[in-house]
Amino acid sequence: MNKPASARGKALEPLCVPRLLAVANQKGGVGKTTTAINLATALSAVGKRVLLIDLDAQGNATTGLGVKRAQIRTSAYDVLFGEASLSDSVLKTRVPGLDIVPSSVHLSGAEIELVTADRREYRLRDVLRVPMSYDYAIIDCPPSLSLLTLNALVAVDAVVVPLQCEFYALEGLSHLVKTIERVKTHFNPGLDIHGVLLTMFDQRNNLSGLVADDVRKWFGEKVYKTVIPRNVRLSEAPSFGLPAIVYDMKSPGATAYIHLAGEILKRERILSDAAQAA
Ligand SMILES: Nc1ncnc2c1ncn2[C@@H]1O[C@H](COP(=O)(O)OP(=O)(O)OP(=O)(O)O)[C@@H](O)[C@H]1O
Ligand SMILES: [Mg+2]
Repeated sequence: MNKPASARGKALEPLCVPRLLAVANQKGGVGKTTTAINLATALSAVGKRVLLIDLDAQGNATTGLGVKRAQIRTSAYDVLFGEASLSDSVLKTRVPGLDIVPSSVHLSGAEIELVTADRREYRLRDVLRVPMSYDYAIIDCPPSLSLLTLNALVAVDAVVVPLQCEFYALEGLSHLVKTIERVKTHFNPGLDIHGVLLTMFDQRNNLSGLVADDVRKWFGEKVYKTVIPRNVRLSEAPSFGLPAIVYDMKSPGATAYIHLAGEILKRERILSDAAQAA
């Protein structure tokens, strides 16, 4: 049973403004939610306190972490529209150290409602850029460059971009990169691409290798060294309401996400050292 996280005596935990990451790509089915769930789990496994925010009306991150609709009283929708506080909407997951702000179907109407809302691009930023008892907050974005995704990009420090290793991988990516640049110019000067993640890599398929080479040519060092293989365990795990890292820790998919978390933490250390030196 997922209990409200506020029932855990979190008040005793030290507060800090968390590092905020969005997992975004307007293309559908590229591995955003799988990445958000397993990256969040891997970070909590190494002792980080992590909050996952499910900003997609499909609610795949919510169900993938075993949260049932009946347990959801308030959601990311209510947080966006000021109808509930963030702390009241947070639910505990089965993963120690990992909490979630669940999605709800109301998010599908949020696009239209946001158009006329006050500070419509900053609503998520306003609630997330405050001290809380998390080291990381990870936002799972919907497959569009809508006002919801825009809210995520305005709120976060950096974006993790999953790219499926298939023929059309790079298609539409320039649109995402331009959107990130626009957000940087107009709303969030600190925004950066944290990294590009190659997903669903199939070793037996030449095309996967060719796409990976192409992506590395375009994005250079921004592409994570870790590549996520196509692995059935990653697609089975959500139906059990578990991250693959819990469902089958030794599977190639789970191992890859554990490596990714290590690589991300390493980049985080380099970024923070550089910021301190500046
Ligand atoms: N590396 C992988 N190997 C095998 N299956 C995968 C892998 N990554 C994701 N999948 C499966 O592919 C499908 C799409 O993945 P996922 O839901 O993570 O993508 P998404 O980008 O969040 O999709 P959407 O755009 O609809 O939100 C899911 O069924 C998922 O279980
Ligand atoms: Mg998704």
